Amino acid sequence: MTDEEIQELQIRIAELEWFHSIDLGCGLVTPGSDESPAKLARLGLPDDLVGRSVLDIGAYDGFFSFEAERRGADRVLAVDTLAWERGATSGWPCFSLAHRVLSSAVEARKVDIHSLASAEIGSFDVVLCLGVLYHLRDPLSALEAVADVTGDLLVLETHTDATHLRRPAMVFYEGDELAGDASNWSGPNERMLATWLREVGFRDVEVVHRRSIGHRALRAFYRAGLRLDRFPGLFDQGRIVVHARK
Ligand SMILES: C[S@@+](CC[C@H](N)C(=O)[O-])C[C@H]1O[C@@H](n2cnc3c(N)ncnc32)[C@H](O)[C@@H]1O
Repeated sequence: MTDEEIQELQIRIAELEWFHSIDLGCGLVTPGSDESPAKLARLGLPDDLVGRSVLDIGAYDGFFSFEAERRGADRVLAVDTLAWERGATSGWPCFSLAHRVLSSAVEARKVDIHSLASAEIGSFDVVLCLGVLYHLRDPLSALEAVADVTGDLLVLETHTDATHLRRPAMVFYEGDELAGDASNWSGPNERMLATWLREVGFRDVEVVHRRSIGHRALRAFYRAGLRLDRFPGLFDQGRIVVHARK
């Protein structure tokens, strides 16, 4: 790329609102608001994906799709809905720009998670479902569709709640109760997630990462501020990465 092309790219990057920090090469990394590289480190994603197919559900700007491609995956399909329909400065424009600059062969389709069907898109060796489940009002039916398109490994990353309960349970958020975002609905606990995953046909369900008690306590303390009555509810919330195999 010439200096002039890099300058033009810098201007275009600055015009967009990025969720992911994507290394575009040529010394440019998109200014994402999320901690995508730290999330990647927690996923336990195989370093080598040569010969494997990968489906990235809720791909947003495409960080994890492009990473799967970088790790050698034969076929990568990125799907999304909300973030790709939102507007002219976030989501789809970001994905498209990164796709072009990286000369990526990642395929992209606007498909709702509930509509995923192996009869239409095939099944994938590795399925990524990262940060999506808590946006759903009916996570179990979505997981049924996810199971249908999973050939081998599902990597599921999501928000959790009701941690102190020893039985499968889920918190359902009204309005923008969770993090001030009205698109957040569901906070299952670890047992609920494992039960759902077995229910839709996964035999091995392994938690590969969960937020430590210390992390949950610090986060809850920080978010509760002077409203100490909010501490127990916030302390119940966490984040988890699960590997599920059929
Ligand atoms: C918090 S972002 C996570 C993005 C990315 N997977 C990550 O972990 O960084 C949630 C993504 O899920 C997508 N999403 C929400 N509901 C969806 C649905 N019903 N079907 C497909 N994608 C959905 C949103 O559009 C958004 O891109």
